[in-house]
Amino acid sequence: MAELMQVKGLTKSFGTMQAVKSIDFSIQEGRCVALLGPNGAGKTTTIRMLTGLLAPTAGEVRFHSLPPGEDRRSLIGYLPQTPAFHNWMSGMEYVVYAGRLCGLGASDAKKRATEMLERVGLADAAKRKLGGYSGGMKQRLGLAQALVHQPKLLVMDEPVSALDPLGRREVLRLLKELKSETTVLFSTHVLHDAEELCDDVVIIRAGEVALQGSLTSIRSQHRRPVIELKLEEGDPRGMAWARAFVEKSLSGEMRDSWLSEAELRDSRLYLTAVHMDEARQGLMEELARHAIPFSRLEIGYSSLEDLFMKVVGE
Ligand SMILES: Nc1ncnc2c1ncn2[C@@H]1O[C@H](COP(=O)(O)OP(=O)(O)O)[C@@H](O)[C@H]1O
Ligand SMILES: [Mg+2]
Repeated sequence: MAELMQVKGLTKSFGTMQAVKSIDFSIQEGRCVALLGPNGAGKTTTIRMLTGLLAPTAGEVRFHSLPPGEDRRSLIGYLPQTPAFHNWMSGMEYVVYAGRLCGLGASDAKKRATEMLERVGLADAAKRKLGGYSGGMKQRLGLAQALVHQPKLLVMDEPVSALDPLGRREVLRLLKELKSETTVLFSTHVLHDAEELCDDVVIIRAGEVALQGSLTSIRSQHRRPVIELKLEEGDPRGMAWARAFVEKSLSGEMRDSWLSEAELRDSRLYLTAVHMDEARQGLMEELARHAIPFSRLEIGYSSLEDLFMKVVGE
C-alpha cells in the first residue's frame, strides 16, 4: 500500500490559543480515514491546513505524487463543513462552475459535470435551482463539485452532521460507494459515522492526536471484558459489599487481580476485567463467599464507544 500524503508536526495558533498542536498522521492510498473528535478538537482547522486554505503556524503537509511547483489543490476535492450555495444556480451550473475554477476547459467541465451529477444521483435534478434542493441533495451536489476534477483525495468536513436522518442515510450510502473509488479523509464528531465508513481513524482531542490506527486493530487492541452485575434492589448487604469492593479496587489493594476498573452506579456494578476467565471465576467466588443477592449478571466486551468516551472524555 503506497502512502498518498503525510502530515508532520502540523500546528496552528490563533493568537495565544493553540487549536492544533503538532499533529502527525499519514494517509495510505485507497483508504478511508476518519478524523474523529469532539467539537472544538481542531478538526476543521486541520482540514483547512491540509487543503491549503489556511497557512499552518508550523509543520507540513506533503503529497508524495505532487509534481514540483504544482498546487496541491489539483489533488484534493474538498467539501467544506458549511458550503455556500447560490440558490439561483442550477445543479449543473454549479458543478460546471466548480470544474472551471479547477482549471477544466468549458467542454470538459460540462462533460465531467454531467458524469458527476449522474454519479451522485442528481441527473434528473440537474436543471433545477439549488434553492429547491433538500439537505441531502445539496450534500450530494457538494460531492459532485468536489470530485469534478478527479482528485486523488476526497476531503470532507462533517459531511453528514447537519443532515436529517433521511439525508444522512442517503449521503452515507453514496459515501460507501465513493470510498471504493478514491482515497477519502473526512471529519466527524460522531463515532458511529466513523465506524460505518472508515478503515483508519485519527482521534483528536484538544488539538492533539489521542489515538490512531486501523479500526480493526484499535478494536482488537482495546477490547476489554466487562461485567455488569445488577444487585437485588432494596437489599443493603449487596450494596455494602459493592461499595467496599469498589473502594478496595480504587485503593489498589487488588492491583494484580483480574480487575482493572470498578464503578458502582445505583444498584449496578460495572467491572472492567483483565482476563475474562479469571474475572468470571474471581467474581463468582466473591459473590458466593459473601452470599450476595443479585438479580442479573451480564458478561460482554467493551465497545469502541467506551474507548472513545475514555479517550476524548473530560
Ligand atoms: N479563526 C479562528 N480564530 C480563533 N480561534 C479559532 C479560529 N478557528 C477555530 N478556532 C478555535 O480553534 C479550536 C478548534 O476549532 P475547530 O478546528 O473548528 O474544531 P472542530 O472542527 O474540531 O470543532 C476551537 O477552540 C475554536 O474556537
Ligand atoms: Mg469543525
